Amino acid sequence: MNKKGKFITFEGIDGSGKTTLSKFLSDYLTSQNIPNIQVVDTKGTSLAKNIRSVIMMEEQKAPIDSFVSSMLFMAARKDTYNNVIKPALYEGKWVICDRFFDSTLAYQGFENQDEEFIRKFSDLRKFSFENIRPDLTILLNIPVDISQRRIETRGHLDVFDEKSLSYRERVKKGFLTISMNEKDRFLCLNANKSTNDIEKIIVKEIRKRYFDNNFLNYQINNKGREI
Ligand code: TMP
Repeated sequence: MNKKGKFITFEGIDGSGKTTLSKFLSDYLTSQNIPNIQVVDTKGTSLAKNIRSVIMMEEQKAPIDSFVSSMLFMAARKDTYNNVIKPALYEGKWVICDRFFDSTLAYQGFENQDEEFIRKFSDLRKFSFENIRPDLTILLNIPVDISQRRIETRGHLDVFDEKSLSYRERVKKGFLTISMNEKDRFLCLNANKSTNDIEKIIVKEIRKRYFDNNFLNYQINNKGREI
């Protein structure tokens, strides 16, 4: 059986607007009568949420080795994939996902500039997700100082929110490097704009890619360009 729904992921550093825009896209698709679900990759099942809580709790005591935390994030994600993402895609629903494997690659791989990890992780991801990749990944690119200000206005900061600006800068570069290696999958958006402006761009892009017939011309003209 083939996957029938589209798989769209949102990526970016903390405070880039993924959660708000995932909800927006899900609501937009519903308004167009497209069956869809909105999910957070490490919060889709009870097991995933428990693993995530363990990561948060342990990180508060001492930083977790990045290989260990990447395996934990992957385990949570795999459980969400098996029980929520894959069944929905095969039923024909679109899946709008807040983070996926690019996050582990950017946070745990690029944060430490660990090339061996990056290579091996790519194999693990094929094995774990049966070669199912997001059809589209919307990367929300934002200056780290602006993301920091947004995080601070949320009130409650978790242990990841308290990491340094230089850490976030490395992760941000990681996301950009990943996007440059897969230009067709990624849509890089300048997220330092009003939510309304970004929403309009997303709708336009979704319409171009999936609802209109001119995506081929669009791809040729826009490869790798940040919008
Ligand atoms: P969140 O954005 O889903 O709430 O993620 C919480 C923090 O965990 C955030 O700082 C990013 C970090 N994280 C990783 O380091 N690796 C991962 O694979 C994922 C999914 C998140």
